[in-house]
Amino acid sequence: MKEPRLLPTAKDKTLFTPGPLTTSLTVKQAMLRDIGSRDDALIELLRNIRVRLLTLAGVTREDGYETILMQGSGTFGVEAVLSSVVPRKGKLAVLTNGAYGERMVRMASVLQIDATVLRSPESQMPDRQILRQALSANREISHVAVVHCETTTGILNPIVEIGQIVKEFGCGYIVDAMSSFGAVPIDVKRANIDYLISSANKCIEGVPGFSFVIARREPLLASEGCARSLSLDLLGQLKGFEDAGQFRFTPPTHVLLAFDQALKELDLEGGVEGRAARYRRNHEVLIRGMHKLGFRSYLEPSLQSYIVTAFHYPNQPNFDFAEFYGRLRDKGMIIYPGKVSQTDSFRIGCIGRIFESDVRALLATIAETLEEMGMKVNASG
Ligand SMILES: Cc1ncc(COP(=O)(O)O)c(C=O)c1O
Repeated sequence: MKEPRLLPTAKDKTLFTPGPLTTSLTVKQAMLRDIGSRDDALIELLRNIRVRLLTLAGVTREDGYETILMQGSGTFGVEAVLSSVVPRKGKLAVLTNGAYGERMVRMASVLQIDATVLRSPESQMPDRQILRQALSANREISHVAVVHCETTTGILNPIVEIGQIVKEFGCGYIVDAMSSFGAVPIDVKRANIDYLISSANKCIEGVPGFSFVIARREPLLASEGCARSLSLDLLGQLKGFEDAGQFRFTPPTHVLLAFDQALKELDLEGGVEGRAARYRRNHEVLIRGMHKLGFRSYLEPSLQSYIVTAFHYPNQPNFDFAEFYGRLRDKGMIIYPGKVSQTDSFRIGCIGRIFESDVRALLATIAETLEEMGMKVNASG
Protein backbone atom coordinates (compact mmCIF):
# COMPACT_ATOMS: atom_id res chain seq x y z
CA MET A 1 0.00 0.00 0.00
CA LYS A 2 1.21 3.49 -0.79
CA GLU A 3 2.05 5.58 2.26
CA PRO A 4 -0.03 8.77 2.65
CA ARG A 5 2.34 11.64 1.88
CA LEU A 6 2.18 13.58 5.13
CA LEU A 7 1.84 10.73 7.59
CA PRO A 8 4.99 10.66 9.76
CA THR A 9 7.17 7.64 9.04
CA ALA A 10 9.80 5.96 11.23
CA LYS A 11 12.58 7.28 9.05
CA ASP A 12 12.74 10.38 6.90
CA LYS A 13 13.57 10.10 3.24
CA THR A 14 17.17 10.88 2.31
CA LEU A 15 17.57 14.19 0.51
CA PHE A 16 20.00 14.14 -2.42
CA THR A 17 19.08 17.73 -3.20
CA PRO A 18 20.87 21.09 -3.21
CA GLY A 19 18.88 22.12 -0.11
CA PRO A 20 17.15 22.03 2.24
CA LEU A 21 19.23 19.00 3.11
CA THR A 22 19.20 15.98 5.31
CA THR A 23 20.31 17.18 8.74
CA SER A 24 21.58 15.26 11.75
CA LEU A 25 19.19 14.16 14.47
CA THR A 26 21.06 16.33 16.96
CA VAL A 27 20.59 19.44 14.79
CA LYS A 28 16.84 18.76 14.72
CA GLN A 29 16.76 18.02 18.46
CA ALA A 30 18.45 21.34 19.22
CA MET A 31 15.20 23.02 18.16
CA LEU A 32 13.16 21.41 20.93
CA ARG A 33 13.44 24.50 23.08
CA ASP A 34 11.69 27.82 23.32
CA ILE A 35 13.92 30.81 23.81
CA GLY A 36 12.82 34.41 24.30
CA SER A 37 13.57 36.68 21.39
CA ARG A 38 15.07 39.37 23.68
CA ASP A 39 16.65 36.92 26.10
CA ASP A 40 20.33 37.26 27.07
CA ALA A 41 20.83 33.63 26.06
CA LEU A 42 19.76 34.45 22.51
CA ILE A 43 21.95 37.56 22.40
CA GLU A 44 24.92 35.44 23.46
CA LEU A 45 24.06 32.74 20.91
CA LEU A 46 23.83 35.31 18.15
CA ARG A 47 27.13 36.91 19.11
CA ASN A 48 28.82 33.50 18.99
CA ILE A 49 27.29 32.51 15.68
CA ARG A 50 28.37 35.80 14.09
CA VAL A 51 31.97 35.35 15.26
CA ARG A 52 32.10 31.69 14.22
CA LEU A 53 30.90 32.53 10.72
CA LEU A 54 33.70 35.08 10.39
CA THR A 55 36.18 32.42 11.50
CA LEU A 56 34.82 30.02 8.87
CA ALA A 57 35.35 32.75 6.29
CA GLY A 58 38.94 33.19 7.50
CA VAL A 59 38.43 36.81 8.57
CA THR A 60 37.90 38.74 11.83
CA ARG A 61 36.18 41.88 13.05
CA GLU A 62 39.65 43.36 13.59
CA ASP A 63 40.30 42.81 9.86
CA GLY A 64 37.20 44.89 9.19
CA TYR A 65 34.54 42.24 8.52
CA GLU A 66 31.07 41.73 9.98
CA THR A 67 28.46 38.97 9.84
CA ILE A 68 24.89 40.06 9.27
CA LEU A 69 22.15 37.46 9.65
CA MET A 70 18.95 38.06 7.71
CA GLN A 71 15.61 36.33 8.25
CA GLY A 72 14.33 34.39 5.25
CA SER A 73 15.87 32.04 2.72
CA GLY A 74 19.04 32.59 0.71
CA THR A 75 17.29 34.74 -1.87
CA PHE A 76 16.43 37.26 0.86
CA GLY A 77 20.13 37.55 1.71
CA VAL A 78 21.10 38.17 -1.91
CA GLU A 79 18.31 40.71 -2.32
CA ALA A 80 19.29 42.40 0.95
CA VAL A 81 22.80 42.95 -0.42
CA LEU A 82 21.80 44.13 -3.89
CA SER A 83 19.06 46.41 -2.58
CA SER A 84 21.23 47.89 0.18
CA VAL A 85 24.70 48.45 -1.23
CA VAL A 86 24.37 49.52 -4.85
CA PRO A 87 23.90 53.31 -4.80
CA ARG A 88 21.05 54.96 -6.74
CA LYS A 89 23.56 56.28 -9.20
CA GLY A 90 25.59 53.07 -9.23
CA LYS A 91 25.52 50.29 -11.73
CA LEU A 92 25.69 46.54 -11.26
CA ALA A 93 27.44 44.07 -13.56
CA VAL A 94 26.12 40.52 -13.14
CA LEU A 95 28.19 37.62 -14.44
CA THR A 96 25.71 34.84 -15.05
CA ASN A 97 25.93 31.24 -16.21
CA GLY A 98 22.83 29.77 -14.57
CA ALA A 99 19.49 30.29 -12.88
CA TYR A 100 20.87 31.93 -9.71
CA GLY A 101 22.86 34.49 -11.69
CA GLU A 102 19.67 35.16 -13.64
CA ARG A 103 17.82 35.63 -10.36
CA MET A 104 20.19 38.47 -9.47
CA VAL A 105 19.47 40.00 -12.87
CA ARG A 106 15.74 39.83 -12.10
CA MET A 107 16.30 41.37 -8.68
CA ALA A 108 18.18 44.27 -10.25
CA SER A 109 15.29 44.79 -12.63
CA VAL A 110 12.63 44.74 -9.87
CA LEU A 111 14.78 47.03 -7.71
CA GLN A 112 15.35 49.34 -10.70
CA ILE A 113 19.10 48.99 -10.36
CA ASP A 114 20.89 49.81 -13.59
CA ALA A 115 22.54 46.52 -14.60
CA THR A 116 24.84 45.11 -17.25
CA VAL A 117 24.40 41.39 -17.81
CA LEU A 118 27.52 39.44 -18.77
CA ARG A 119 26.03 36.11 -19.75
CA SER A 120 27.95 32.88 -20.49
CA PRO A 121 26.57 29.49 -21.49
CA GLU A 122 25.52 27.39 -18.51
CA SER A 123 28.21 24.84 -19.34
CA GLN A 124 31.03 27.40 -19.28
CA MET A 125 32.89 29.66 -16.87
CA PRO A 126 32.12 33.38 -16.94
CA ASP A 127 34.29 35.14 -19.52
CA ARG A 128 36.87 37.23 -17.63
CA GLN A 129 37.95 39.03 -20.78
CA ILE A 130 34.41 40.27 -21.32
CA LEU A 131 34.30 41.42 -17.69
CA ARG A 132 37.51 43.37 -18.15
CA GLN A 133 36.20 44.96 -21.34
CA ALA A 134 32.86 45.84 -19.70
CA LEU A 135 34.60 47.45 -16.72
CA SER A 136 36.97 49.41 -18.97
CA ALA A 137 34.19 50.63 -21.23
CA ASN A 138 31.69 51.32 -18.50
CA ARG A 139 33.22 53.31 -15.67
CA GLU A 140 29.91 53.82 -13.94
CA ILE A 141 29.78 50.12 -12.96
CA SER A 142 30.10 50.30 -9.18
CA HIS A 143 29.52 46.64 -8.24
CA VAL A 144 30.08 43.20 -9.76
CA ALA A 145 28.08 40.15 -8.69
CA VAL A 146 28.67 36.47 -9.39
CA VAL A 147 27.55 33.10 -8.06
CA HIS A 148 30.33 30.87 -6.69
CA CYS A 149 28.84 27.38 -7.10
CA GLU A 150 26.07 27.87 -9.68
CA THR A 151 23.69 25.26 -8.31
CA THR A 152 21.90 24.99 -11.67
CA THR A 153 24.73 22.78 -12.91
CA GLY A 154 27.23 22.55 -10.05
CA ILE A 155 29.83 24.61 -11.93
CA LEU A 156 32.37 26.31 -9.66
CA ASN A 157 33.07 29.83 -10.86
CA PRO A 158 36.57 31.30 -10.39
CA ILE A 159 35.80 33.91 -7.74
CA VAL A 160 39.43 34.71 -6.92
CA GLU A 161 40.38 35.53 -10.52
CA ILE A 162 37.18 37.52 -11.03
CA GLY A 163 37.86 39.36 -7.76
CA GLN A 164 41.29 40.44 -8.95
CA ILE A 165 39.76 42.14 -12.00
CA VAL A 166 36.98 43.70 -9.90
CA LYS A 167 39.60 45.13 -7.53
CA GLU A 168 41.71 46.54 -10.39
CA PHE A 169 38.69 48.63 -11.35
CA GLY A 170 37.87 49.60 -7.78
CA CYS A 171 34.36 48.11 -7.80
CA GLY A 172 32.47 46.43 -4.97
CA TYR A 173 32.39 42.65 -5.20
CA ILE A 174 29.33 40.54 -4.32
CA VAL A 175 29.57 36.74 -4.27
CA ASP A 176 26.60 34.42 -3.84
CA ALA A 177 28.27 31.47 -2.12
CA MET A 178 24.97 29.93 -1.08
CA SER A 179 25.72 26.34 -1.95
CA SER A 180 29.50 26.36 -1.40
CA PHE A 181 30.24 28.19 1.86
CA GLY A 182 31.17 25.74 4.62
CA ALA A 183 32.32 22.98 2.24
CA VAL A 184 34.46 24.71 -0.37
CA PRO A 185 37.39 26.70 1.05
CA ILE A 186 36.93 30.39 0.23
CA ASP A 187 39.65 32.96 0.86
CA VAL A 188 37.48 36.04 1.30
CA LYS A 189 40.43 38.43 1.56
CA ARG A 190 42.40 37.03 -1.37
CA ALA A 191 39.26 37.04 -3.51
CA ASN A 192 38.66 40.69 -2.50
CA ILE A 193 35.06 39.86 -1.61
CA ASP A 194 33.11 42.73 -0.08
CA TYR A 195 29.85 40.81 0.43
CA LEU A 196 29.56 37.03 0.58
CA ILE A 197 26.11 35.52 0.98
CA SER A 198 25.12 32.05 2.15
CA SER A 199 22.34 30.43 4.15
CA ALA A 200 21.70 28.23 7.16
CA ASN A 201 20.47 25.16 5.33
CA LYS A 202 23.25 24.43 2.85
CA CYS A 203 26.75 23.14 3.61
CA ILE A 204 26.67 24.13 7.28
CA GLU A 205 23.78 21.64 7.53
CA GLY A 206 21.39 23.72 9.60
CA VAL A 207 17.68 24.05 8.86
CA PRO A 208 16.12 26.72 6.62
CA GLY A 209 15.17 30.09 8.09
CA PHE A 210 17.90 32.66 7.63
CA SER A 211 20.69 33.73 5.33
CA PHE A 212 23.89 35.47 6.32
CA VAL A 213 26.26 37.97 4.78
CA ILE A 214 29.97 38.26 5.50
CA ALA A 215 30.54 41.92 4.71
CA ARG A 216 33.51 44.25 4.67
CA ARG A 217 32.59 46.96 7.18
CA GLU A 218 34.02 49.95 5.33
CA PRO A 219 31.94 49.76 2.13
CA LEU A 220 28.92 48.64 4.14
CA LEU A 221 29.10 51.75 6.36
CA ALA A 222 29.57 53.86 3.24
CA SER A 223 26.29 52.45 1.84
CA GLU A 224 24.27 54.42 4.44
CA GLY A 225 21.09 55.71 2.81
CA CYS A 226 21.17 53.31 -0.18
CA ALA A 227 18.67 50.74 1.13
CA ARG A 228 15.54 50.28 -0.96
CA SER A 229 13.74 48.15 1.65
CA LEU A 230 13.16 48.45 5.39
CA SER A 231 13.24 44.77 6.31
CA LEU A 232 16.13 43.88 3.98
CA ASP A 233 18.26 46.89 4.94
CA LEU A 234 21.69 45.30 5.46
CA LEU A 235 23.25 48.20 7.33
CA GLY A 236 20.07 48.64 9.38
CA GLN A 237 20.29 44.97 10.36
CA LEU A 238 23.96 45.35 11.34
CA LYS A 239 23.05 48.35 13.51
CA GLY A 240 20.38 46.21 15.21
CA PHE A 241 23.03 43.62 16.09
CA GLU A 242 25.53 46.25 17.21
CA ASP A 243 23.15 48.43 19.22
CA ALA A 244 21.01 45.78 20.90
CA GLY A 245 22.70 42.50 19.98
CA GLN A 246 19.42 41.47 18.40
CA PHE A 247 17.49 41.00 15.20
CA ARG A 248 15.37 44.07 14.49
CA PHE A 249 12.29 41.93 13.85
CA THR A 250 11.19 38.47 15.12
CA PRO A 251 14.28 36.25 15.13
CA PRO A 252 14.17 32.64 13.86
CA THR A 253 14.94 31.34 17.36
CA HIS A 254 14.63 27.60 16.71
CA VAL A 255 16.63 27.86 13.51
CA LEU A 256 19.41 29.65 15.40
CA LEU A 257 19.53 26.88 18.00
CA ALA A 258 19.80 24.30 15.23
CA PHE A 259 22.48 26.37 13.49
CA ASP A 260 24.54 26.61 16.66
CA GLN A 261 24.52 22.81 16.88
CA ALA A 262 25.28 22.51 13.14
CA LEU A 263 28.36 24.71 13.59
CA LYS A 264 29.57 22.48 16.43
CA GLU A 265 29.14 19.44 14.19
CA LEU A 266 31.04 21.15 11.39
CA ASP A 267 33.95 21.64 13.83
CA LEU A 268 33.71 17.99 14.88
CA GLU A 269 34.01 16.94 11.25
CA GLY A 270 37.24 18.91 10.82
CA GLY A 271 35.80 22.22 9.59
CA VAL A 272 35.54 23.13 5.92
CA GLU A 273 38.29 20.69 4.90
CA GLY A 274 36.71 17.77 6.72
CA ARG A 275 33.30 18.45 5.25
CA ALA A 276 34.79 18.93 1.81
CA ALA A 277 36.42 15.50 2.06
CA ARG A 278 33.10 13.77 2.81
CA TYR A 279 31.22 15.59 0.06
CA ARG A 280 34.05 14.96 -2.41
CA ARG A 281 33.89 11.25 -1.63
CA ASN A 282 30.09 11.25 -2.02
CA HIS A 283 30.52 12.91 -5.40
CA GLU A 284 33.22 10.49 -6.63
CA VAL A 285 31.05 7.50 -5.75
CA LEU A 286 28.01 9.12 -7.36
CA ILE A 287 29.71 10.02 -10.63
CA ARG A 288 31.35 6.66 -11.04
CA GLY A 289 28.08 4.84 -10.30
CA MET A 290 25.90 7.05 -12.49
CA HIS A 291 28.27 6.79 -15.44
CA LYS A 292 28.29 3.02 -15.00
CA LEU A 293 24.49 3.09 -15.19
CA GLY A 294 24.75 4.95 -18.50
CA PHE A 295 23.98 8.51 -17.34
CA ARG A 296 26.00 11.44 -18.68
CA SER A 297 26.97 14.48 -16.58
CA TYR A 298 26.03 17.85 -18.05
CA LEU A 299 29.37 19.51 -17.24
CA GLU A 300 32.91 18.73 -18.25
CA PRO A 301 34.60 17.03 -15.26
CA SER A 302 37.10 19.90 -14.86
CA LEU A 303 34.24 22.37 -14.20
CA GLN A 304 32.18 20.14 -11.94
CA SER A 305 32.04 20.78 -8.19
CA TYR A 306 31.36 18.09 -5.61
CA ILE A 307 28.27 19.98 -4.40
CA VAL A 308 25.60 19.05 -6.93
CA THR A 309 25.68 17.38 -10.35
CA ALA A 310 23.32 17.80 -13.29
CA PHE A 311 22.74 14.70 -15.41
CA HIS A 312 21.21 14.53 -18.87
CA TYR A 313 18.01 12.56 -19.20
CA PRO A 314 18.97 9.20 -20.66
CA ASN A 315 18.40 8.97 -24.37
CA GLN A 316 15.73 6.30 -24.09
CA PRO A 317 12.14 6.75 -25.24
CA ASN A 318 10.51 5.29 -22.13
CA PHE A 319 12.29 7.63 -19.66
CA ASP A 320 9.81 9.79 -17.81
CA PHE A 321 11.41 11.98 -15.10
CA ALA A 322 8.21 12.40 -13.07
CA GLU A 323 7.82 8.63 -12.88
CA PHE A 324 11.54 8.12 -12.11
CA TYR A 325 11.37 10.75 -9.35
CA GLY A 326 8.17 9.29 -7.89
CA ARG A 327 9.50 5.75 -7.81
CA LEU A 328 12.70 6.88 -6.08
CA ARG A 329 10.68 8.95 -3.60
CA ASP A 330 8.50 5.97 -2.77
CA LYS A 331 11.70 4.07 -1.97
CA GLY A 332 12.86 6.86 0.37
CA MET A 333 15.25 8.76 -1.91
CA ILE A 334 14.64 12.35 -2.99
CA ILE A 335 16.52 13.66 -6.04
CA TYR A 336 15.96 17.03 -7.71
CA PRO A 337 14.58 18.27 -11.02
CA GLY A 338 16.93 20.07 -13.41
CA LYS A 339 17.27 23.83 -13.94
CA VAL A 340 19.48 23.90 -17.05
CA SER A 341 17.60 26.04 -19.57
CA GLN A 342 18.29 24.29 -22.89
CA THR A 343 18.68 20.64 -21.86
CA ASP A 344 16.48 18.09 -20.11
CA SER A 345 18.35 17.32 -16.92
CA PHE A 346 17.94 16.35 -13.31
CA ARG A 347 20.22 16.98 -10.34
CA ILE A 348 21.66 14.96 -7.50
CA GLY A 349 23.21 16.72 -4.53
CA CYS A 350 26.11 15.31 -2.52
CA ILE A 351 25.70 17.69 0.43
CA GLY A 352 23.91 17.45 3.77
CA ARG A 353 24.24 14.70 6.37
CA ILE A 354 24.71 11.95 3.81
CA PHE A 355 27.62 9.56 3.47
CA GLU A 356 29.15 7.29 0.86
CA SER A 357 26.87 4.46 2.06
CA ASP A 358 23.81 6.64 1.33
CA VAL A 359 25.09 7.38 -2.17
CA ARG A 360 25.69 3.67 -2.79
CA ALA A 361 22.15 2.95 -1.60
CA LEU A 362 20.84 5.61 -4.00
CA LEU A 363 22.75 4.07 -6.91
CA ALA A 364 21.37 0.61 -6.15
CA THR A 365 17.86 2.06 -5.95
CA ILE A 366 18.32 3.90 -9.25
CA ALA A 367 19.47 0.67 -10.94
CA GLU A 368 16.44 -1.18 -9.56
CA THR A 369 14.10 1.63 -10.64
CA LEU A 370 15.48 1.74 -14.18
CA GLU A 371 14.80 -1.98 -14.48
CA GLU A 372 11.25 -1.54 -13.20
CA MET A 373 10.75 1.16 -15.81
CA GLY A 374 11.91 -1.23 -18.51
CA MET A 375 15.10 0.69 -19.16
CA LYS A 376 18.40 -0.88 -19.91
CA VAL A 377 20.89 -0.62 -17.06
CA ASN A 378 24.42 0.01 -18.33
CA ALA A 379 23.03 1.36 -21.60
CA SER A 380 25.16 4.22 -22.86
CA GLY A 381 23.28 7.49 -22.28
C1 LIG B 1 23.64 29.67 -5.61
C2 LIG B 1 22.28 29.91 -5.03
N1 LIG B 1 21.85 31.17 -4.89
C3 LIG B 1 20.65 31.44 -4.36
C4 LIG B 1 19.81 30.42 -3.95
C5 LIG B 1 18.49 30.77 -3.39
O1 LIG B 1 18.36 30.33 -2.08
P1 LIG B 1 16.92 30.05 -1.45
O2 LIG B 1 16.27 28.98 -2.31
O3 LIG B 1 17.27 29.58 -0.08
O4 LIG B 1 16.16 31.32 -1.48
C6 LIG B 1 20.22 29.09 -4.08
C7 LIG B 1 19.35 27.99 -3.68
O5 LIG B 1 19.60 26.82 -3.92
C8 LIG B 1 21.48 28.83 -4.63
O6 LIG B 1 21.92 27.57 -4.79
